[in-house]
Amino acid sequence: MADYLIAPSILSANFARLGAEVDAVLEAGADVVHFDVMDNHFVPNLTIGPMVCKALRDHGVTAPIDVHLMVQPVERMIDSFAEAGASIISIHPEATMHVDRSLQQIRDAGCKAGLVFNPATPLHHLDYVLDKVDVILLMSVNPGFGGQKFIPATLDKLRQARQRIDESGYDIRLEIDGGVKTDNIAEIAQAGADMFVAGSAIFNEPDYAKVIAAMRRELAS
Ligand code: DX5
Ligand code: ZN
Repeated sequence: MADYLIAPSILSANFARLGAEVDAVLEAGADVVHFDVMDNHFVPNLTIGPMVCKALRDHGVTAPIDVHLMVQPVERMIDSFAEAGASIISIHPEATMHVDRSLQQIRDAGCKAGLVFNPATPLHHLDYVLDKVDVILLMSVNPGFGGQKFIPATLDKLRQARQRIDESGYDIRLEIDGGVKTDNIAEIAQAGADMFVAGSAIFNEPDYAKVIAAMRRELAS
């Protein structure tokens, strides 16, 4: 596994040709496919479900698929996405009555488990479940839409999450989602992130490889 993972969010891809878009972005050097699931309930937008995840696997996508569940309730969707080929499934603590059980359900289904923090959601939700998470995902925008501006307070939160991970000794990825661009990715990495979701920054440009290479140059600097 690369030290830094770049995970394009297909929310900003052209859905009319999704398979080709995912092929193109992986060919362009992406590590992971970030798959945003919205239900018009937990967030005010509606996107794609397990059938689309399975369609990507059937299309031949072998890269990890990182499913970000912005749905409530989450329980039913966990097994559906695991069966559809998800690699990582991340849930928001506000979306389940039973965070511990849902994280365990994800692992029992054979996937890596992620816990997602909205910009105003405190990190104390990690207190009793750090041993059950493989990914901590910090939202640096309010979830629901691509193309929003990075909320600067997230940098401090990243530093706190990084400290918790390092002190715990667990093998946990620290993922950031929202407003990640070539010109702020270095600062975000410095604050402790090691997995970067980027939607509009990649898919709104004509040359995906050029953006991903520029991001990697920034990460190496
Ligand atoms: C927002 C989603 C993000 C979004 C990021 O709710 O979780 O993954 O697609 O888009 P950008 O990179 O454009 O902020
Ligand atoms: Zn996301």
